[in-house]
Amino acid sequence: MLLHKIDEVRESIIKWKKEGLTVGLVPTMGALHNGHLSLIKKAKETCDKVVVSDFVNPIQFGPSEDFDKYPRTLDADMELCNETGVDIVFAPSANEMYGEGQRLSNDTLTYVCPPFFYVNKLCGKSRVGHFDGVCTVVLKLFNIVQPDFAFFGQKDAQQVIVIKKMVKDLNVPIKIVQCPIVREESGLALSSRNKYLSEAGKQDALVLSKILNNIKVCYNRGITDTDALKETAYGFLTDKHEMEYLEIVDKETLEDKKQADDNSIALIACRVENVRLIDNIYLKED
Ligand code: PAF
Repeated sequence: MLLHKIDEVRESIIKWKKEGLTVGLVPTMGALHNGHLSLIKKAKETCDKVVVSDFVNPIQFGPSEDFDKYPRTLDADMELCNETGVDIVFAPSANEMYGEGQRLSNDTLTYVCPPFFYVNKLCGKSRVGHFDGVCTVVLKLFNIVQPDFAFFGQKDAQQVIVIKKMVKDLNVPIKIVQCPIVREESGLALSSRNKYLSEAGKQDALVLSKILNNIKVCYNRGITDTDALKETAYGFLTDKHEMEYLEIVDKETLEDKKQADDNSIALIACRVENVRLIDNIYLKED
């Protein structure tokens, strides 16, 4: 069922809660791919009812980012959601989410600001304000849907960590479920932004997963110095790659590490054909 209005969603949720049913939320910006489908599948296994939100959230995009061209594929998304037995697809307008004619800024709207320590690094460093926008919309979705569980992909590792921190700090009574990255056979992590890449660009983009896999191999062979591990990336890069960051940090706290350990995660952001791609890997798989 496709719903655009908050009140309509709330009506179904209240009915389900009265019946004692559990609710799972899969927040998305649409352009659904197999990565999203894995979240929906996990939500279906875990909960009685599943809500997918499909909303390209304007307040998490910077002024020079891809908000206008971000793929919007609601009809195809609906088809996938119907096939997978999603109960509600919630696709609000920006006016519905933030108020008619509302200026989208923290001068006039209440924003959720995650702690500086968690956002002054990795993606947050170049995308200033991005995680404020993410946390604000996610908390709004949590309040609208009031799910028991919410499902996020590990692909956006910093996002999941920041959301878990928000849930803990603000006592939000929702269990966050993190699901593994889904990759193409080639190793490329699935992302809605892969749609911007040419076939040649997709080949060049394989460098991200190759660099991460190589770091993991080197770590498991005994190299723990993070500078040495990061240096192994240079052998893979060509003039087709514009590296933004490659970091090895604690997988729960995002603290920098001089020496990698079994709790470390390596994260990369790199532009290919001017498309900003991210990926990450746990150095020791759980
Ligand atoms: O990961 C995303 O697609 C978005 O950041 C999210 C969590 C749906 C919030 O808009």
